[in-house]
Amino acid sequence: MTGKFPEGFLWGGAVAANQIEGGFGFGGKGISTADVATAGAVDKKREYTDGIVEGIYYPSHEAIDFYHRYKEDIKLLSEMGFKCFRTSIAWSRIFPKGDEAVPNEEGLQFYDAVFDECLKYNIEPVVTISHYEMPYHLVTQYGAWRNRKLIAFYINFCKVIFERYQNKVKYWMTFNEINVIAYQSFIAAGIKLETGERKEEVIYQAAHHQFIASAKAVALGHEINPDFKIGCMLLYPLTYPMTCNPEDVLLANEAMNKNYYFSDVQVRGAYPNFMKKYFERNNINITMEAGDAEILKQGTVDYVGFSYYMSLVASSDKEKGGDAAGGNMVRGGANPYLETSEWGWQIDSVGLRIALNNLYDRYQIPLFIVENGLGAIDKVEEDGSIQDDYRIEYLRHHIMEMKKAVIIDGVELMGYTPWGCIDLISAGTGEMKKRYGFVYVDKDNAGNGSLKRYKKKSFHWYQKVIASNGEDLE
Ligand code: BG6
Repeated sequence: MTGKFPEGFLWGGAVAANQIEGGFGFGGKGISTADVATAGAVDKKREYTDGIVEGIYYPSHEAIDFYHRYKEDIKLLSEMGFKCFRTSIAWSRIFPKGDEAVPNEEGLQFYDAVFDECLKYNIEPVVTISHYEMPYHLVTQYGAWRNRKLIAFYINFCKVIFERYQNKVKYWMTFNEINVIAYQSFIAAGIKLETGERKEEVIYQAAHHQFIASAKAVALGHEINPDFKIGCMLLYPLTYPMTCNPEDVLLANEAMNKNYYFSDVQVRGAYPNFMKKYFERNNINITMEAGDAEILKQGTVDYVGFSYYMSLVASSDKEKGGDAAGGNMVRGGANPYLETSEWGWQIDSVGLRIALNNLYDRYQIPLFIVENGLGAIDKVEEDGSIQDDYRIEYLRHHIMEMKKAVIIDGVELMGYTPWGCIDLISAGTGEMKKRYGFVYVDKDNAGNGSLKRYKKKSFHWYQKVIASNGEDLE
């Protein structure tokens, strides 16, 4: 299919602070929840230790050392022609413990330098305010997002970064994959569930706190700079019915509603009825304060950012449903029509077109694909080249479907930032060998390697894609 993307389309790539920066113990940074995550594997869950335990390898402490190499890295991204670069701000660099009144100037200076470096190459920073980390002290002292006090700490953080970077950053997102709190509560909200606790009540209460924090941040951001574009960010686990049995269709709808609930609140500014009824039926009591409904209404987002990697299926047949397939955060049924990645993620490029149409029909506000990509094992050849044709293939098909959604279906799409544009630490497994990047980083799962950067074959391919505004996908 021929055709270009609209003028000003934001081509770029995405990363998160805790998966690239390293710089643990530098610049006054405090310990974050990501800093207590151990290394895992496809069949070994990451653990979250109680504080830093000596002798354990924590992948985030060095990551790919972007903290010291950001100039070299941003230059490489600029060579690909990036129009934008999505990263996050490590909350614990700005407020090492999270509850201080005064921010850490050294941390602020680091992001000044990163954003200046981007702007030097006309790359727009796209900033996730909270991407799977928070100061660890907020967990031990306050119980993390269980506690309503977190809202004030988060807003203080937002105020500082909005004011500081108001002339450097225009695009923001409040919480990465906010719906993941329902599946992985520690990574998303610093919550370790105790045995005997009413799991859903704890989680949905914490989600309510994040909704209020997000809405307040949107209102505050717009007050500080009316040009800010502040979005939500949803993990989009597209779920199909296994068959046309109405029971399967209903199950698939219900599975999607559990995710839409999060974007509904952030886009429409109110709890959807299906969720209120779910709470009622399951005796889930969410404590809300007077004025919360108004806060949600006043703080609706400007766009919907979302991640899309795969699709799942729902089936009323117990044997076919279940959790045979999935990714790092969500699981569901396997689809016999799809192939999977080496990590078992079901590859579905057409699903991206469906996702774009579903989200645009539902909300009618601009969308932004802020994550998409293939985690794969790469091999460095003797001549230093990396022939990652499988990655090119994955991205080409996804971009083709994205193009159809924009050109044929009329979906309003702001941009596309494939995940892990430079190799980084996997969030789900803590591995290095699960690579997404256009740029290879020499480091292995145990933390060994020179950290040298190499351009993969996909680097040159993506450069052409951007230069032709999506016309040349060959
Ligand atoms: C998303 C996260 O869930 O998927 C990223 O926002 C993460 O932080 C990405 O890295 C890919 O997942 P993984 O587990 O392969 O790193």
